[in-house]
Amino acid sequence: MATAFVPSTTLRLRPYSTLRCLSFYPKNLTKPYPVFPPLIRRSPISPRRFFSSVISGALHSGERTKSELAEKQKGQMGSKVGEFRKKLKIVDVKGGPDEGLDRVGLMIVVAGWVRTLRAQSSVTFIEVNDGSCLSNMQCVMTSDAEGYDQVKSGLITTGASIWIQGNVVPSQGSKQKVELKVNKIVLVGKSDPSYPIQKKRVSREFLRTKAHLRPRTNTFGALHLYNGLPLAGALVARVRNALAYATHKFFQENGFIWISSPIITASDCEGAGEQFCVTTLIPSSREAVESPVDAIPKTKDGLIDWSQVYTFGPTFRAENSNTSRHLAEFWMIEPELAFADLKDDMACATAYLQYVTVAERDFVQLSYTDAIELLIKAKKKFEFLCKNNLPYLDLCLWHVRCSSFRLRSLIIFQDVKWGCDLQSEHERYLTEEAFGGCPVIVSDYPKEIKAFYMRQNDDGRTVAAMDMLVPRIGELIGGSQREERLEYLEGRLDELKLNRDTYWWYLDLRHYGSVPHAGFGLGFERLVQFATGVENIRDAIPFPRTPGSAEF
Ligand code: 4AD
Ligand code: MG
Repeated sequence: MATAFVPSTTLRLRPYSTLRCLSFYPKNLTKPYPVFPPLIRRSPISPRRFFSSVISGALHSGERTKSELAEKQKGQMGSKVGEFRKKLKIVDVKGGPDEGLDRVGLMIVVAGWVRTLRAQSSVTFIEVNDGSCLSNMQCVMTSDAEGYDQVKSGLITTGASIWIQGNVVPSQGSKQKVELKVNKIVLVGKSDPSYPIQKKRVSREFLRTKAHLRPRTNTFGALHLYNGLPLAGALVARVRNALAYATHKFFQENGFIWISSPIITASDCEGAGEQFCVTTLIPSSREAVESPVDAIPKTKDGLIDWSQVYTFGPTFRAENSNTSRHLAEFWMIEPELAFADLKDDMACATAYLQYVTVAERDFVQLSYTDAIELLIKAKKKFEFLCKNNLPYLDLCLWHVRCSSFRLRSLIIFQDVKWGCDLQSEHERYLTEEAFGGCPVIVSDYPKEIKAFYMRQNDDGRTVAAMDMLVPRIGELIGGSQREERLEYLEGRLDELKLNRDTYWWYLDLRHYGSVPHAGFGLGFERLVQFATGVENIRDAIPFPRTPGSAEF
């Protein structure tokens, strides 16, 4: 994991970057503003404050200035690194300050995948992408090029991998400064005509079923198909990478040390401890449907025959949440601060989010009690879907068949009142409508709806907890000041009938030099959603794991 996070180049800010598309909010916000407006509306002189130059810098971390290229050629990066990087990439050609014009006249080789192929009467255009950047290399070919017969005979199609040699020439088109005039083309790997990522058939849902191929999607093509919002694929993967890098950079620069915490735990602190059932014991045949438990293989003594069980790998949250914000396996960023209270915690969370998204605007802070008052005053019927379990007692319930889900669902209209947990609808109302698209930090929740380890406030009924809510997602961060006072912690464990012995080591920390401390957890895929605009969390991670789904 450590190496996966090691940056390959220094972060560089590119204010003119073509990817500063993910805007934040306009400076003078007068009315709610659509979050991450369509990329097609980008304008180089817009007054809008652009989304993360850190991110756009990292997205373009492959860009190099002429002097850097020269430095590299002098071998200052070490001979091994030089060897490893010696292949020319499309980003090396088009990512420079002249967008490739400095390479005009050079003969180069590009190896990549065919994104599109357009054969006209006298000339063929092949868009090639090598994965080094989002941009394709437009390769222009006439019948005198070596290997043209492979194009003519239809052997080279979308999805095929090819090797092309040609000269960099100024482009006739307006979309790029340079293109490649092909001298020679070699088919490396043929693509079967059934290649699923054809322009016309791309949809988010469809791409999810082709997660192994979706990094090859043509992101900008997708932009026009989906109302300007960036889709899963190369762009999301790059933003995810940049956010991970910016995350490490932020914490490293602020004196934190990254530690590898264990994944396997015997504690269920915040009620998120439902267990995955991973077994190959229950047959999926028809007979098993009647009585699956009886169908579990047994030994002669009637005991379960465990010899057939094999599991391997980490396990995360098994809550049965099929929403656009929940995964069964996700990444969380969890800083923990010593000698810190809730205010420090909120300040750290704010600074972190502002750092990775380059938002200067102050975030709204309000107490849970004030948030409830706002929600009550909103006089809105909040509606949310709830499956399997009913979290509240005083609910009006309507059984509704919800056609978009295969399961029967309940639509619950809940009267908001002090003591209830905030649902995604409430959270989104607060950040999107009540505060016009500004991130909101809600603090001091009722102790009954929060974890035992959160520090009790003097009022006896709330704890020093905070959730950061952002537009379109709702809760992005959950955190708290921790209870550092031994007697309070023991009292809370007893109240909740949790066994003190199980938490011996946690209590020990209060025996030996306890200090006020606080921390939070940020769902990394939700951050990727927030930054990219992807609606479904399943598009924010390369291979999503959700209840009942672990394909790929
Ligand atoms: O609010 P949560 O449950 O807090 C904790 O787990 C604390 N132990 C964190 C801490 O104080 N160190 O989860 C934190 C965040 C949520 O705000 C949400 O962004 C994300 O983790 N999250 C999920 N993301 C994707 N899928 C799920 N099933 C998630 N559950 C929580
Ligand atoms: Mg939470």
